[in-house]
Amino acid sequence: MTPRTPITSVDLTLTEKASLTSGADVWHTTSIPRVGVESVMMTDGPHGLRKQSVGGDHLGLGDSNPATCYPPAVALGASFDVDLLRRVGQAIGEEAAAEDVAVVLGPGINIKRSPLCGRNFEYLSEDPLVTGALGAAMVEGIQSAGVGASLKHFAANNQETDRMRVSADIAPRPLREIYLRAFEHVVRQARPWTVMCSYNRINGIYASKNRWLLTDVLRDEWGFDGLVVSDWGAVDDRVAALAAGLDLEMPGGNGHADARIVAAVDAGGVTQEALDAAAGRVLDLVRRAGRRPSAAPIDVDAHHLLAREAAARCIVLLKNDADLLPLRTTDRIAVIGAFAERPRYQGAGSSRIVPTRLDNALDEFRAVAAGEVTYAPGFALRGSADSARDAGELRAEAGRVAADAEVAVVFLGLPDEEESEGFDRRHLDLPAEQLALLEEVRAANPRTVVVLSHGGVVTLPFADDVPAIVDGSLLGQAGGGATADVLFGVVNPSGRLAETVPHRLEDTASFGNFPGEDGHVVYGEGLLVGYRWHDARRIGPAFPFGHGLSFTHFRYGEAGTHLRGDDVVVRVPVTNEGDRDGSEVVQVYTSLPGSRAVRPPRELKAFRSVGIPSGQTVEVELVIDRADLAVWDARLDRWRVEGGEYVLEVGASSRDVRSRTSVAIDGDSARPVFTRDSSLGEVLADPFAAQLVQRALAEMAGQMPEIENVLQDTTMMQLMESFPIGRLPGYGGVPITAETIDGLIAIANAGPDDAAP
Ligand code: BGC
Repeated sequence: MTPRTPITSVDLTLTEKASLTSGADVWHTTSIPRVGVESVMMTDGPHGLRKQSVGGDHLGLGDSNPATCYPPAVALGASFDVDLLRRVGQAIGEEAAAEDVAVVLGPGINIKRSPLCGRNFEYLSEDPLVTGALGAAMVEGIQSAGVGASLKHFAANNQETDRMRVSADIAPRPLREIYLRAFEHVVRQARPWTVMCSYNRINGIYASKNRWLLTDVLRDEWGFDGLVVSDWGAVDDRVAALAAGLDLEMPGGNGHADARIVAAVDAGGVTQEALDAAAGRVLDLVRRAGRRPSAAPIDVDAHHLLAREAAARCIVLLKNDADLLPLRTTDRIAVIGAFAERPRYQGAGSSRIVPTRLDNALDEFRAVAAGEVTYAPGFALRGSADSARDAGELRAEAGRVAADAEVAVVFLGLPDEEESEGFDRRHLDLPAEQLALLEEVRAANPRTVVVLSHGGVVTLPFADDVPAIVDGSLLGQAGGGATADVLFGVVNPSGRLAETVPHRLEDTASFGNFPGEDGHVVYGEGLLVGYRWHDARRIGPAFPFGHGLSFTHFRYGEAGTHLRGDDVVVRVPVTNEGDRDGSEVVQVYTSLPGSRAVRPPRELKAFRSVGIPSGQTVEVELVIDRADLAVWDARLDRWRVEGGEYVLEVGASSRDVRSRTSVAIDGDSARPVFTRDSSLGEVLADPFAAQLVQRALAEMAGQMPEIENVLQDTTMMQLMESFPIGRLPGYGGVPITAETIDGLIAIANAGPDDAAP
């Protein structure tokens, strides 16, 4: 283990400092034996450990040491369960500690802007609140084991197409309210040891050399005091990146960057202080890692059980007509679909790990069922023995197996090759041969349950035609057992959709603006991402954000609300009316009727997963942080809570509101700084400035009577609202001078005694 070292950057030569700011190889920081600075290892992440003992690649190509494969983020997001994320994070941290890894490269908390993003399986949700809360819990869990997390990919890395160059062109409000909000939350709450900058540009500037992003926002505004590491290969200009606030370039190993930095310091292109700060943060990281006590060996079985528990918590029961589920163990069950035998349980790319073991649903069904369990693959996965068989024959065999059973469970999904880090999908469809298989099975046995495996969302053209659908997304190495647990009712499902399932790609927010062209992708939908879009455009989804059924039924009482300090407390009694214990995910959405800001019809502002025993009522308390009510005021360049009567919708999904209440919130001061460029409308919207202007206008009307007519004419006044006040002098003979305008601006900006500037 790395010894404690009192070394600071002051004790190092210029060349040594420069050498610290890039890696020694693919996974390690650079050591400086002269002064006893050791190197530490960073490793992917995020749903298990990908430690490569020999060699290294960051593309998921080479093997790594076996580690527990927990459910990837796409599944964990659906748990809506912060405690679960903390526990999974801690287990990953413990595995990292046991392998002497200092930093786990995750979690990934980019927003799922388009369902086509090839890496959506590594991200938690389309919603920033869910992403932020779960991301923070995961970071806390990892770091509780004395291992650092690396929050990634900072920022606006929402697609894989042209990911190393594309400019994400985003207006200030969506950038802050949707794409940076979760990062801000995690940085403030969980204080990750490191943040990984993304590959792409943001509004034209590469994240790796974006001073506004890496220093002004991340450090100065949010108080981040850890280390900023580049995504692997994200740096196009090491010197500019260092000056912007990027501490460590990864991977490294060729020494070219060091020489450039030394030359730049000598030539004055980058300051000594900037280099000292970056090298100092690498030393801090090495020191932090060195403080970890020696790690206990991992109990592989216990971690596998946690992976199973987590996976079961992430399964979403989308549909369950006539209570077809849970299955009875005595049923004669036809298990159909190659994924039952060869599970699709994680995504491809840098996060791909080698599991310690791998369950499959077929074996797990057979272990639980007392009745007969038959199996037919139904379709062939690439590279399987079945690929030599005729597709029609595979289907016909599946139909025969289904016809002989009391219930058919069909495992459908996206094959491995259809989604990965590095490229985006082009459509949302399941493979045609799988849909044809489902038709065949349904015709043979209408008691058909569909179980889905996929990283990105898929459309479900059969949703009305099958009685039960179970969404397993990607469940990790114990997904097979977890699926059996839920389907046989050992675990009552409690997962919720963390992203909208649309009817068609054309219904999604970024359609037409994804993946962009000519090096730019315009985030034209603005704030209206995911359910925000579907609600605003009144487009019905196939299954809405927040949706998920249970084997029991929850009744909501009337919600009440009050303020506690700055925060809004919402309380609602929820009763489990069924005969099984279960967990409900209570969700609170807000809106502000009459708001002056552009707003989606509803936004999730609090959620809580609560276990409720059968027959009992739990008074569920949820807290909305005042900061989460704020919108980004681009004029003031800061967050601002608008005052007013907020409507709170409490329910079981974004489209299943069970109780409504409202709460009055005092707004933050919204006084802008007036300039000659301020419009008449902006000035008149401020009570103090309006008084000044009205007085001036009245004086002017004395000299120019037409002004009085304009003041009385509401249409004219509306027309003049957008007129910049600095252009009034001389306009159509208006009797006011530029000096008078400047004087008024100065008085308005000084404000009344009690007004905040
Ligand atoms: C990915 C990162 C990953 C890194 C190291 C990059 O290609 O974008 O998420 O942590 O490689 O493997």
